[in-house]
Amino acid sequence: MTGTPPTPPSGSEFDPTKPDIARTYRALQQWGKRDALPADRHAAAELMRKIPGADQVMQENKAVLVRMTRFAVRRGHTQFVDIGAGTPATYDARLPELPNLMEVAADIRPERRWVSVDVNPVVLAHLRVLDRDGVSTLEGDVRDLEGIFNDIEGQNLLDLGKPVVVVLGAVIHFIDDHEAAKVVPYLMRRLSPGSMVLFTHVTSTGRDPQMVAAGKAAYEALVAPIWVRSQEEIAVLLDGLTLHPPGLVRTIAWDPDETTDLASTEAPHFLAAAGDF
Ligand SMILES: C[S@@+](CC[C@H](N)C(=O)[O-])C[C@H]1O[C@@H](n2cnc3c(N)ncnc32)[C@H](O)[C@@H]1O
Repeated sequence: MTGTPPTPPSGSEFDPTKPDIARTYRALQQWGKRDALPADRHAAAELMRKIPGADQVMQENKAVLVRMTRFAVRRGHTQFVDIGAGTPATYDARLPELPNLMEVAADIRPERRWVSVDVNPVVLAHLRVLDRDGVSTLEGDVRDLEGIFNDIEGQNLLDLGKPVVVVLGAVIHFIDDHEAAKVVPYLMRRLSPGSMVLFTHVTSTGRDPQMVAAGKAAYEALVAPIWVRSQEEIAVLLDGLTLHPPGLVRTIAWDPDETTDLASTEAPHFLAAAGDF
């Protein structure tokens, strides 16, 4: 890895007694449906108390990423790198789960190439089980995009001479403003024109400020630092991208192909956008 980041990323060492980002996300997403480690169960229960509907927020986040992946594949994309990919679905028959994004893409274009990147060793172990021709897993930190793309190029995992879709699902809110501001400019320098970014991020816009403060404090006490940004601050991070309609909107409203049941309960804590450069 080049340019080692100053602080180790949260969850980069497994400690069953300390909830981490990936395990808490899974525990919330599957709240009440699947067992979790006691530490994760406790963190998820606390977060559910501070952020009513937190489980729905996480499910909506995953659902919009599924829609965005389909959207990108239908526009002809075949190369993807999913940074902060998270634990893949394991398809427990008792638990209906949304499909993994790499499978969503393969359903439409079996020839797609997919690279999953994460910092969490347990997530990486689960992802590696899915590695096969055209599907690879890399350890990497979103604060070190140079290292990630050098590995992708060096190992010939994707053809960086052609457009790539970069998935940044619920990961940029775990890095500080200085690091977050570098992401899109780096991608625009490094990747070919015609590349795309699929992006989701927690927001304070439209939320009760007291609930945002309480949720952030609880998340930071239990899990990891988190940057809850306003819609305007998030829009600045995406500067330079040409956003597809409907632009940067609540996850449930990002549905250009109109496949969502909009009657479902809205949990408007995350924003989503897909942009080209
Ligand atoms: C909330 S989960 C989101 C998973 C998936 N992208 C989704 O949206 O469904 C965030 C993931 O980002 C990973 N992560 C956290 N900090 C990271 C960093 N600095 N670089 C890369 N991945 C990171 C975590 O380990 C976790 O798997």
